[in-house]
Amino acid sequence: MTTTITQPIDIPMDQKNLHIPVMSQEVIEHLRLKPKAVIVDCTLGLGGHAQLIAQNIGPEGRVVGIDRDSESLAQAQGRLQKYPCQYEFVHDDFRNLDKILEKLGIQEVDGILFDLGISSYQLENPQRGFSFHVDGPLDMRMDKDSYISAYDLVNSLSEHEISSILKNFGEERWHYRVARYLVAERVKHPIESTKKLTEIVLKAVASRYKGQKIHPATRTFQAIRIAVNRELEALEKTLSICIDCLKCGGRICVLSFHSLEDRIVKQKFRTFARLGKLKLIVKKPLRPSNEEMKSNLRSRSARLRVAEKI
Ligand SMILES: C[S@@+](CC[C@H](N)C(=O)[O-])C[C@H]1O[C@@H](n2cnc3c(N)ncnc32)[C@H](O)[C@@H]1O
Repeated sequence: MTTTITQPIDIPMDQKNLHIPVMSQEVIEHLRLKPKAVIVDCTLGLGGHAQLIAQNIGPEGRVVGIDRDSESLAQAQGRLQKYPCQYEFVHDDFRNLDKILEKLGIQEVDGILFDLGISSYQLENPQRGFSFHVDGPLDMRMDKDSYISAYDLVNSLSEHEISSILKNFGEERWHYRVARYLVAERVKHPIESTKKLTEIVLKAVASRYKGQKIHPATRTFQAIRIAVNRELEALEKTLSICIDCLKCGGRICVLSFHSLEDRIVKQKFRTFARLGKLKLIVKKPLRPSNEEMKSNLRSRSARLRVAEKI
């Protein structure tokens, strides 16, 4: 499904600042960007990080920007036109990184960036069905061409399967209870919207979340999104592949936003360090500055890990 997007979209004024790239200065510094470098941004999004990368590697540098979301990809293409660089915009899952680079005739790259999860642009769009704050269809697919949506999972998996997803991908303490309520409700009527899903979760666990800072539906929405997009599987697979795609001295930067992602990155980096393939550049994950956390709420849970190919 590797295609180069050819219809750039200019981002409307009211959406231009919707996604602020997280820990961008730290990412740029740790990628050690030089003119003419070849960098892969595995999670291009709206191109916030890619813009800074392009500005640092210059017109003779090359950015390979990958995203599963064709809409975001087209928006990034529009935004990046102003920043001269050689771009490849690829609509694909980053789990195909090796095949993507092979198709582009690139053997090795100088740096690889992952900024995991979804962008604020995707989260805030009701039609994408990612958020419990806005009502929309129960979708949650990053790639609108993929077959399975949140609606399919929530309305067809068994109670046990839903419970396992909530436990494994959301670390939801009351996973049994939420799954039981979902299955009881869908017998009456299919669960079709984010609003309905939120109402059911609230019915199941609102009282148990009293006094806690997070919204009771946070973990359920995270878990279902991860399952729909098979996010952890893609991350695990790609971290193994990407070391072979890097030049010696090339760097990987991974920004993660919850403990499940960070654990995978930590374990993979450690395994490759033990095998003598990677050097850990930061022993503990870097965190955003207090200022950034105040000005960009999304950054509050960010963790940046960096490793270098030996
Ligand atoms: C947090 S956003 C990236 C934002 C970007 N760094 C910026 O500054 O604009 C993550 C992006 O990665 C994409 N994505 C997540 N998992 C992916 C995967 N397995 N393959 C390709 N793209 C993925 C999402 O669709 C989303 O657009």
